[in-house]
Amino acid sequence: MEALKQRILRDGRAVNEQILIVDSFLNHQVDVELMRLVGEAFAERFAQAKPNRIVTIEASGIAPAVMTAQCLRLPMVILKKSASRVLSDDIVQTEVFSFTKNAPYQLTLKRQFIENGDRVLLIDDFLANGEAALGACRLIEQAGATVAGIGAVICKAFQPGLQKLRDQGYDVDALAKIRKMSEGTIEFDEA
Ligand code: G4P
Repeated sequence: MEALKQRILRDGRAVNEQILIVDSFLNHQVDVELMRLVGEAFAERFAQAKPNRIVTIEASGIAPAVMTAQCLRLPMVILKKSASRVLSDDIVQTEVFSFTKNAPYQLTLKRQFIENGDRVLLIDDFLANGEAALGACRLIEQAGATVAGIGAVICKAFQPGLQKLRDQGYDVDALAKIRKMSEGTIEFDEA
């Protein structure tokens, strides 16, 4: 997505070879007009997968997911990162390890918000190691639904997430795939 890549080049900042700061338009301040274009791009890319529900992970996935859901006119569900204190049959939970934060957390979903047989399009802001996306897929499948596709706004293609998810058979794509970066330079993968 050209507008997104240009924005990353203009306002993104690679602090080192691993971490890209995009807080002026994606995950702190949000450029709503850019998110509308992001939603349209995801809708176009995944319409043929025929999703009937959009799922995201709190917090930074919410903006792109809302726009995708609006564009496809679908309901949207947010997976929570806190453990539920009321463990019951109504809840599915899975542990996810965040390499960035070096800590595990419990991804949580109330079953009532995903139905058996749903086709879910998972949308998130970053795809890095893929642990959050894999955890989300586990929950979606435990709830009896199918993962129809996975869309990340930005994928750091030099980290293992994209390949891990593809190896498990998921249809994964990103609107900007970063091949390589270092302080002050960002290179996209055009494939
Ligand atoms: P993974 O999910 O792909 O395995 O990655 P990891 O655990 O390492 O990433 C966890 C968090 O770090 C996620 O946000 C993810 O969006 C964010 N992240 C990963 N790489 C980058 C990066 O290069 N730049 C920025 N800005 N964030 C990155 P989170 O903890 O879930 O935060 P939030 O969604 O609540 O904001």
